Amino acid sequence: MTQSTPVSSSLRTRWRQWTPEQRREFLRRLDAPERERLLEVLDAPEPGPAWDQVARPEQLPPVGEWLLWLYMAGRGAGKTRAAAEWSHGRALAYPGCRIALVGRTPADVRDVMIEGDSGILTVAAMSGRCTSRPSAA
Ligand SMILES: Nc1ncnc2c1ncn2[C@@H]1O[C@H](COP(=O)(O)OP(=O)(O)O)[C@@H](O)[C@H]1O
Ligand SMILES: [Mg+2]
Repeated sequence: MTQSTPVSSSLRTRWRQWTPEQRREFLRRLDAPERERLLEVLDAPEPGPAWDQVARPEQLPPVGEWLLWLYMAGRGAGKTRAAAEWSHGRALAYPGCRIALVGRTPADVRDVMIEGDSGILTVAAMSGRCTSRPSAA
C-alpha cells in the first residue's frame, strides 16, 4: 500500500475542473509512469466520511473487554464493511500487526473481504489514507 497524499485529492479536484483541452495538455507533459499514477488517483474511490460518523451502533465494536464479536444480521446489513473497517482501524493503530482473515475459501476472503465492494481495499481507499496496488504475482 502507498500512502495517499493531499496532492492526490487536489489533483483529482483539478482534473474535474479542467476542460478536455487542459486535460490533453496535462497528459502530454506526463511520462508513462506519471500517467499510470494519475489513472490510479482518478480511479480510487472518493474519500468518504469517517466511519465512526456513519457506522450504525451495531457496526462498531462492543465497548469493554471482549474476545469474540459476533455480528449476525441479514444480507446487506453491513457486516463485511464493519469487519473491514475494524481490521483497517487495527492496521492503522498497530502498523505491522498480523490480522487473520478467515473465510470459507481463500477466494471468498480475497474476493469479498479484501477486494470486494465493502472489503478492506475499498475501505482503505475511502478513508483517503491509502491506495493499493495489486502485486503482479
Ligand atoms: N453504516 C453504513 N453507512 C453507509 N453505507 C454502509 C454502511 N454499512 C454498510 N454500508 C454499505 O452497504 C453495502 C452492504 O454492506 P455489506 O457490508 O457488504 O453488507 P453484508 O456483508 O452484511 O451483506 C455496502 O456497499 C457497504 O459499503
Ligand atoms: Mg458480506
